[in-house]
Amino acid sequence: MISDPDVTALLYLVTIVCFIVALRFLSSPKHARKGNWVGGAGMLVAIGTTLLLEGIENWVLIVVGLAIGTVVGVVGARNVRMTAMPQMVAIFNGVGGGAAALVALAEWHTTLDPAGDETVSIVLSALIGSISFAGSAVAFAKLQELVSGRPIVYPAQNVVNALVVLGAAGLGIAAIAGLDGEWVLLALIGLALVFGVMFVLPIGGADMPVVISLLNAFTGLAASATGFVLDSTVLIVSGMLVGAAGTLLTLLMAKAMNRSVANVLFGAFGQVQAGVGQARTDDGRTVRATTPEDVAVQLSFARKVIVVPGYGMAVAQAQHDVRQLAEVLEERGVDVEYAIHPVAGRMPGHMNVLLAEANVPYTQLHEMDEINPEFPQTDVALVIGANDVTNPAARSDPASPIYGMPILDVDKAASIVVLKRSMRPGFAGIDNELYLDPKATMLFGDAKESVVKLISAVKAS
Ligand code: TAP
Repeated sequence: MISDPDVTALLYLVTIVCFIVALRFLSSPKHARKGNWVGGAGMLVAIGTTLLLEGIENWVLIVVGLAIGTVVGVVGARNVRMTAMPQMVAIFNGVGGGAAALVALAEWHTTLDPAGDETVSIVLSALIGSISFAGSAVAFAKLQELVSGRPIVYPAQNVVNALVVLGAAGLGIAAIAGLDGEWVLLALIGLALVFGVMFVLPIGGADMPVVISLLNAFTGLAASATGFVLDSTVLIVSGMLVGAAGTLLTLLMAKAMNRSVANVLFGAFGQVQAGVGQARTDDGRTVRATTPEDVAVQLSFARKVIVVPGYGMAVAQAQHDVRQLAEVLEERGVDVEYAIHPVAGRMPGHMNVLLAEANVPYTQLHEMDEINPEFPQTDVALVIGANDVTNPAARSDPASPIYGMPILDVDKAASIVVLKRSMRPGFAGIDNELYLDPKATMLFGDAKESVVKLISAVKAS
């Protein structure tokens, strides 16, 4: 048992330092693994210290809770497919918010003075935690395609949402002013849950990255508020770190989409024209299909190839084969680089994670701003399961829901080869003009199978 508060404070300080060092390491693929370990070690110190504090009781409940959490966490993390990782992150994030709301509810029971300082933290913890829980559940359902990933818009949605959140905030203010009773916090949590659902439903199309990062920030803030409720410095600081990191990520994602956060949240942006996957336009332009053999010749004789990975590479789990293809080409003297769009895939850093897992040297991964000037000097842009992040409509069509989003300039390469299975649209649900570009050819099929065929064809050419 730890009875000296100085020892507790020191151990919690170790945790906080671990978290900060972990964040530093996580900022580069080179040290990211180490960052995870350091963060995990910090968490272990925090949990161990908390369990050893004087006054901890109910060991049976704690051990049962730990066992359930550990089994769910380990089994979930081990079995989750890389493509389902964004959903898992969304649900884990939501669980954090839900936990904050539950702690607030439990503390509301035991608070002696409803109008005391602690009530502010309880209200914030319940409010933000519940919004984050419900919003993350909807984000999970959208990413898992249990509900449509497209924006679900309803009449007067901003007004209805404002009324619901004002209702929740009003109850919170009433609670802080001294209104007592179990129902107050329950009603507040109920309204916050409804708001969480309703504010994420209309967001969709290409805007999900912003809302996912924002929910992440909410969970951090809720955890921090819970830290005030429980008088736990370590929880306050770590919640703030998550909140700050989530806020920065939200701003970065909004910048990547070239939108303000307010526009994403309240603009019911991303309303989608039905993506029909057209293969031919009224002006007679058609899509040209190609074969692995033809692409192999193009690639083998190229000086420079830029690989543009997207969500389809994750679905096909083609990253290892992509690396092999790049190696085969490099042996032939081709310069191969990778262009990473900030919202490619379904979670921030999705492509970096996959390619790092396949041991692609991170020096070959280039962010959008860095690689875009290279496309005009590129012989082949090899687009592997990417769609929205290459759509020139973002530049040229003010009516497009992705208008204004910076894209990878693949259309500036001398030729473009697109690997996908069909003419179906990507996440934003819109057709891609790129496929009608006379420089573009389509290699239809599962990305992994196509890349494997390309490797054999390049070797044989
Ligand atoms: P998308 O635009 O979603 O396009 C992916 C393409 O991959 C689809 O058109 C699909 O076409 C193809 N595909 C799927 N499975 C495939 C397979 N097995 N083999 C080959 N191709 C396959 O992807 P993107 O370009 O990476 O853009 C990401 C989109 O998701 C953006 O709109 C972004 O805003 C959104 N989003 C991003 C995030 C984050 S944080 N990154 C989070 C949520 C949403 P076929 O069906 O014809 O094969």
